[in-house]
Amino acid sequence: MCGIIGYTGKRKVRDVLLDGLELLEYRGYDSAGVALVDEKGGEPSVYKCAGRVADLRKVCQEKELAQTCGIGHTRWATHGGVCDENAHPHRFGQVTLVHNGIIENYEELAAKYHLTEKLHSQTDSEIAAGVFDWFYKGDPYDCIKQTVSELKGTFAFVILFADKPDKIYSVRNVSPIVAAKTPEGTMLASDVTAIGRYTKKYFVVPEYHVLEIDKENITLTDFNGKQTEPEYLDIDFALNMSEKGGFPFYMEKEMAEQPKVIADMLEEKTKDGLPDFSKEGVPDELFTDCENVCVVACGSAMHAGLAGQSMMKKFLHIPVTVELASEFMYNDPVVDEKTLVIAVSQSGETIDTLEALKYAKKHGAKSLAVINVKGSSIARESGAVLYTNAGPEIAVASTKAYTSQLALFCLLTARMAYARGNFTADETRAFVQDLKKVPTAMEQVLAGKDRIHHIAGRIIEAKDIFMIGRGMDYSIAMEGSLKLKEVSYIHSEAYASGELKHGPLALITEHTPVVAVATQGRLLSKEISNIREVKSRGADVVLFAKQSVIAEEKEGCFGFALPDVRDEFMCLPAAAALQLLAYYVSSDKGFDVDKPRNLAKVVTVE
Ligand code: M6R
Repeated sequence: MCGIIGYTGKRKVRDVLLDGLELLEYRGYDSAGVALVDEKGGEPSVYKCAGRVADLRKVCQEKELAQTCGIGHTRWATHGGVCDENAHPHRFGQVTLVHNGIIENYEELAAKYHLTEKLHSQTDSEIAAGVFDWFYKGDPYDCIKQTVSELKGTFAFVILFADKPDKIYSVRNVSPIVAAKTPEGTMLASDVTAIGRYTKKYFVVPEYHVLEIDKENITLTDFNGKQTEPEYLDIDFALNMSEKGGFPFYMEKEMAEQPKVIADMLEEKTKDGLPDFSKEGVPDELFTDCENVCVVACGSAMHAGLAGQSMMKKFLHIPVTVELASEFMYNDPVVDEKTLVIAVSQSGETIDTLEALKYAKKHGAKSLAVINVKGSSIARESGAVLYTNAGPEIAVASTKAYTSQLALFCLLTARMAYARGNFTADETRAFVQDLKKVPTAMEQVLAGKDRIHHIAGRIIEAKDIFMIGRGMDYSIAMEGSLKLKEVSYIHSEAYASGELKHGPLALITEHTPVVAVATQGRLLSKEISNIREVKSRGADVVLFAKQSVIAEEKEGCFGFALPDVRDEFMCLPAAAALQLLAYYVSSDKGFDVDKPRNLAKVVTVE
């Protein structure tokens, strides 16, 4: 969480930092700040405030700021409340820094280095600045190495030393930092969205290396004093993918991008009609040598894993478990060398997923990561990686990243079934051919957005909502419910339809709308019985069902007809419909859809 940027070059740094921070704001948006290095050196000028980058812009714009080197930060509060003092950058003696992560032993450090009386904030980051200052005797490398040896926790630091004008330093453990040379200077940031307008090449700063950048050069030195060459990667998305493109919110734009993202992925990851992961170097042995699969992920990525589980169990006939990554290690997971662990993550930086993956690997599991962001920590940790290539997802609520994970699980299941002999080549091709109809089905859902907007009006005043479904529809209801909660702040609970009468039915009244998902032919009659149960208790039921199903439903539920595709793939159009529902409730309530309260896009703290 938290977004970091630094630049040193020929441009006016204030503008580079503020523009970059706006693009990084999805990582955290409690407060923001910049430190600008004065030409003659000395203490940088710090401007910071609680609030959004737009508020910081007002603070900075009052002044003529011509500096060309500086660092910036947009915060998601962990230690210390949201106030001007706790905003970054923090200055302590010779050191001015911004920080992403958590320093776990901050109290111990404050006592050991006699910092407590000198602090202006309640943050662990200012204490870290104090420790850096303590060790700073004119050599940034030594100072960074000694300070880092004292720290427990995760961090990405970007540091200015008062006597080194025009130079920026960085070091990281877990929390990400990327860096790049541009025609007019060098820069670094938490992720590529902030640097994509200046360069097409970047590298991920390796952990426990000291990065030094000046106006022209980049130097990377490991903790043994050895200089290392950066491993450059390409930014392979169009610049306009990280812009709103005329949409009022990123979420709407990202929902609209889904059919193309999925169609492109199906094109790129198939050959001769079969799923093909050879370009990404993923060998079939990974699929044939395992006896069970364990998916680890959080939030929407975990929900994608649940849909994947339904498909894999159906076609592969092997045990498939899906674990909340944040709970994984605490529940004595049974993983060994016969397990294929699949870590799913949009950002590739979710700390819980990363730790779960490391744990599974330590216990002998083979690993595959399903990731959107190239070169991210989980991608680097995993034995093999399949990229969803959804492009930058800026809205906190995941849409295209989630549906691209669903589509990838469809392809993965098909490839595994083919490799393991569950599918013949012809069956696999037929499966893929049907999957390729999905983008059109999703376009149809998006074209029906006015009707979904109308449905949103039926639930907008509700305080509590249930979303129900059976089998794969239950996992879709879980995702729909998460989406509604996070962007509209309505309490929404997903429930397996068959479980209602084991308790929650007691909560159903005429004031509790129920959103029912019914896309699975073999479960339909039972699902319809459950819908009748809630209707007879007074609930207003909104039905999202396969077109053919809605036509048969005699109970006259208000609803939305989802275009027919194979039952296994119905999760994709259904997900798009529920995303639109959440979006319209939120935007009609006048909320900032892209930046829900208390949340951040990338969760790098446990
Ligand atoms: O980057 P990740 O996919 O690992 O993130 C996992 C969750 O934090 C994420 O899906 C979260 O639940 C979204 N805000 C949901 O819309």
